[in-house]
Amino acid sequence: MKISIIGTGYVGLVSGTCLAEFGMNVTCIDNDREKIQNLNNGIIPIYEPGLEDLVKKNINEKRIKFVTNLSDGIKNSEAIFIAVGTPSRIKDGHADLSYVFKVAEEIAECLKDYAVVVNKSTVPVGTGRKVFDIIKKKNKDLEFDVASNPEFLREGSAINDFMRPDRVVIGCESNRAKKILSEIYRPLYLLETPILFAKRETAELIKYAANSFLATKITFINEISDLCEKVGANVSDVSIGIGLDGRIGKKFLHPGPGYGGSCFPKDTLALVKTAHDYKSQLGIVEHVVKSNDLRKKNNINLIKRACFNQIKGKKITILGLTFKPNTDDMRDSPSLILIPKLLDEGCHICAYDPEGLESAKKIFNDNRISWFTETYSAMVDSDILVILTEWNQFRALDFKKVKSLLKTPILVDFRNIYDPKEMREKGFNYFSIGRPKELFL
Ligand code: UGA
Repeated sequence: MKISIIGTGYVGLVSGTCLAEFGMNVTCIDNDREKIQNLNNGIIPIYEPGLEDLVKKNINEKRIKFVTNLSDGIKNSEAIFIAVGTPSRIKDGHADLSYVFKVAEEIAECLKDYAVVVNKSTVPVGTGRKVFDIIKKKNKDLEFDVASNPEFLREGSAINDFMRPDRVVIGCESNRAKKILSEIYRPLYLLETPILFAKRETAELIKYAANSFLATKITFINEISDLCEKVGANVSDVSIGIGLDGRIGKKFLHPGPGYGGSCFPKDTLALVKTAHDYKSQLGIVEHVVKSNDLRKKNNINLIKRACFNQIKGKKITILGLTFKPNTDDMRDSPSLILIPKLLDEGCHICAYDPEGLESAKKIFNDNRISWFTETYSAMVDSDILVILTEWNQFRALDFKKVKSLLKTPILVDFRNIYDPKEMREKGFNYFSIGRPKELFL
């Protein structure tokens, strides 16, 4: 089957590559010439484990190609996926749908035969209907359907998430479209992946509800971790204790410096806006948005506590700048709030991140930050070591070496990757989240 994907961002590129791997004949379309040229040469614009090899393999086996011309690209496609960005509009937090609508116009102008147009971009409820109306208005006689097929992959494990999803959600009511989409996802039947067919509006809402629920779960455990610090309880045990209840589940109960990335912050905000538009109550998600923003602003307090409020002039090493490991994505990362605050307090920052360094340098562009390309050299003569993102290589540090390099053995661990008792035995003044020090004395 021939399918095309418009937009080669995270979702478009991973979906296109994985569908090619499933045996489809895929054309990826993007108006960024340089990106398309690079992709045709196997050069990937993002860091995602395994993606580069899979793109190269499918180019060699001629199942995927990358083009800039939409009209040529969608020719003879039975399914056309829209996977362009839907960033938050700066003025009001609504999802900016201008790219989606522009693509719908272009599809309407060049589509000649039946195809199902599939929204994979995260779009607010009702967008599928608008896309349908745009195409219908421009191309009255065309036979087509518009479906919603939200994507649930995570950065850093995107390929596995696409190839082995918990479920596939398809929003459409036309049998013709259902048949094509069932055919596309047929390889997943072997894995007995549940495929949920629903109304288009329902599918659109499932995506926002899923992301907002996960963001709520994280915010809940973050707030519980604050309470743990006050009452002398251990949040790690609380997570296990509640997570073992099958109705709650143990995933997404790790406290940290606040969620970031290109999805949770944008999608929670957009869902709140949709609720406002429809005069519906969504106080929980509204609170989640505020609580997470505040958490990121307050992260500095833990570092202040670690240096007895004598923060001015301190040299601070930060390990991990991206919003999570296994990505080079800096969008809405807690580091974007924490580092400027530390600089304002007169600190000097020594920073290292395995993949995010280049984009971080461009974003901060500040000579009060020294950049390092390796973990240990970033620690020399620092007053405090901070772990902000839990990259694997920070999980088993050589603490003898760390101690010999730091000026003072202070470790602030925003991801709770170390054991407080062990760290104390190694001679560190160790600070983590929701695990008060006195519990481990
Ligand atoms: C998220 C969803 O998990 C995907 O299902 C969805 O497809 C994607 O958004 C999207 O809408 O495109 P992603 O943003 O890649 O995926 O990353 P997550 O692994 O969900 O992590 C998001 C944030 O939550 C990170 O900042 C992470 O550090 C934080 N987090 C996650 C916690 O603080 N605690 C946890 O227990 C889990």
